[in-house]
Amino acid sequence: MTTLLTTRDIGAIVAAKGLAAFLGTLVETLEHDFARWESFDKSARVANHSADGVIELMPISDASLYTFKYVNGHPKNTRLGLPTVMAFGVLAEVDTGRPELLSELTLTTAMRTAATSVLAARRLARADSRVMAVIGNGAQSEFQCVAFHALMGITEVRLFDVDPGATAKLVANLRAVAPALRAVVCASAADAVRGADIVTTVTADKTNATILLPDMLAPGMHVNGVGGDCPGKTELHPDVLRAARVFVEYEPQSRIEGDLQQMPADFPVTELWRVLTGAAPGRRSADEITVFDSVGFALEDYSALRLLRDTARELGLGRPIELVPDMADPKNLFGELHLPAAPHAVPAARAATIA
Ligand SMILES: NC(=O)c1ccc[n+]([C@@H]2O[C@H](COP(=O)([O-])OP(=O)(O)OC[C@H]3O[C@@H](n4cnc5c(N)ncnc54)[C@H](O)[C@@H]3O)[C@@H](O)[C@H]2O)c1
Repeated sequence: MTTLLTTRDIGAIVAAKGLAAFLGTLVETLEHDFARWESFDKSARVANHSADGVIELMPISDASLYTFKYVNGHPKNTRLGLPTVMAFGVLAEVDTGRPELLSELTLTTAMRTAATSVLAARRLARADSRVMAVIGNGAQSEFQCVAFHALMGITEVRLFDVDPGATAKLVANLRAVAPALRAVVCASAADAVRGADIVTTVTADKTNATILLPDMLAPGMHVNGVGGDCPGKTELHPDVLRAARVFVEYEPQSRIEGDLQQMPADFPVTELWRVLTGAAPGRRSADEITVFDSVGFALEDYSALRLLRDTARELGLGRPIELVPDMADPKNLFGELHLPAAPHAVPAARAATIA
């Protein structure tokens, strides 16, 4: 049997563990798996583009587990009453190919993205960072704010969205779950960035936007660029990248999808796993400007699915489903149709004798 985890199960996991604690465990799980980078069979995701969006498949495996995620990105969706990003995924045994877990990954993507942002910021942002600008206050934004508050010591978020309703929603949600986090509503992206130690850009627009311009940067800033994640969909002015040391998840994918797509093929970047394993330095000085040009990599969903499987088991959550046939005789697939016998069917024993 395969275990099914729905959005309700993910809610139950977060309620049982606490959001901050679960995000913390997710950061640890990600760090553990990024440190084993070379044991994974990796590839850039497969993207099917259309006029208004993209649908992507994100596979990865190591010697024992295979995972994939289905995810879309349609910035116009919210006008239709649908989320911009929706996802689900599978975890399977490499030995047999048996699908062990089928899970929702929409909530999970928001949590694993925020956890990955924190994992990078711990090595790339100044340790004394307290103020974070958050530009784009949609579905991902609460997760980013709560993760940076609970796990990075951020005490003030400076918020801007072209939709004031999105910012109001974010402020109300933060007031309920993180009352110690000061939320300041700003009139523009430039206003939000002023005085920030960390700048998180998490907007959705299928265009080469310039959310962050070079004259908005200050020495020592860390930019957590989350929303530029698709060809033709960027957030950072190219001179922001030129002014910084740039870190990515998986270079072959980020060159196509990240803000990095705007730069020449030889523009220098460092993969995050190299910093996490000590092979490359993270932040080198208090004045350096750093950019984490995040696009979302399959390994992050592998880590999340592995953690969900183990936590669901521990809490007794999830429902067994017959996603693939559960057969007494694995060669008798036909029997799984459970067809009614024809009126004049030859009894099985006799049929065998005739043959
Ligand atoms: N890097 C990753 O791993 C990763 C993971 C998940 C989502 N994403 C990306 O993050 C982005 C946000 O996702 P979401 O689910 O929050 O989308 P969403 O549609 O719920 O929210 C996006 C918000 O951005 C705002 N916005 C658009 N243009 C803006 C601008 N110029 N200035 C300020 N605000 C602006 C919109 O009004 C909206 O409120 C998307 O682009 C998505 O593809 C990246």
